[in-house]
Amino acid sequence: MAAVQRNESLPRHVAIIMDGNGRWARKRHLPRQAGHVAGVNAVRDVVRAATDVGLEALTLYAFSSENWKRPAIEVGALMGLFRLYFRKDMDEVIGRGAKVRIIGSRTRVDPDIRSMIEDAERNSAGNNGLNLTFAFDYGGQEEIAAAARELARAAKEGRLDPESITPELVSSRLFTAGLPEPDLLIRTSGEMRVSNYLLWQIAYTEIFVTDRLWPDFRGIHLLEAIADFQRRERRFGGIGEGCGEVEEDPTRIKLAAG
Ligand code: FPP
Repeated sequence: MAAVQRNESLPRHVAIIMDGNGRWARKRHLPRQAGHVAGVNAVRDVVRAATDVGLEALTLYAFSSENWKRPAIEVGALMGLFRLYFRKDMDEVIGRGAKVRIIGSRTRVDPDIRSMIEDAERNSAGNNGLNLTFAFDYGGQEEIAAAARELARAAKEGRLDPESITPELVSSRLFTAGLPEPDLLIRTSGEMRVSNYLLWQIAYTEIFVTDRLWPDFRGIHLLEAIADFQRRERRFGGIGEGCGEVEEDPTRIKLAAG
């Protein structure tokens, strides 16, 4: 494995789609919830690695707005694990200097979870280490729609000139306002989808898909993904070194027949 370089090429923000808990459990003839329980160990290890390596931001997809469609017993288990994680791990996470933020709708979650979220955000607000964000009851399209609603309201009330709406202004109305856009998106379990995750924010994000199922993912695998990222050339729509010459007069270009 190539070593991670702790220099300016460290991604500032890593986002992860933690997928494959159900398959991990099925392979072991266990109920799906067992995969989620094992998934929490992976969360714990990855958060430790992220603080150890000095990452600026880590965003984990813990529960999508579509996950409510799952059987009630599975949703209940996920809510229970979220409660347990906040109760058991928050002291360590905050002690490691992380600033915790939860992005998503807060209207559907139980009030006790809502107050745990608020406590974690309040208790870590003064930290300046890892920006640790959990996407919880989160959907990217709804996040963009909410920002559009807010801007439209401001325009309607005469507080905003529609012509002044820029990508930066839209970004500032998203849940992730103030965070750098993700440099690296990791998806476990081999699926090639973005699943309504950070749709606006991942415009130029490098994607790393691994077949490893989330419960088997550890800090070392985060470092492997970062090392892979460090070997990539990002072009942001431009052209990179060694990508060929540009002919000043394209009419002189003759292509070989066939
Ligand atoms: C996707 O696997 C995973 C989830 C829907 C939930 C992620 C939750 C955890 C990792 C545990 C709880 C998290 C915290 C932060 C306490 P899947 O169930 O869709 O897997 P499958 O595609 O194999 O069925």
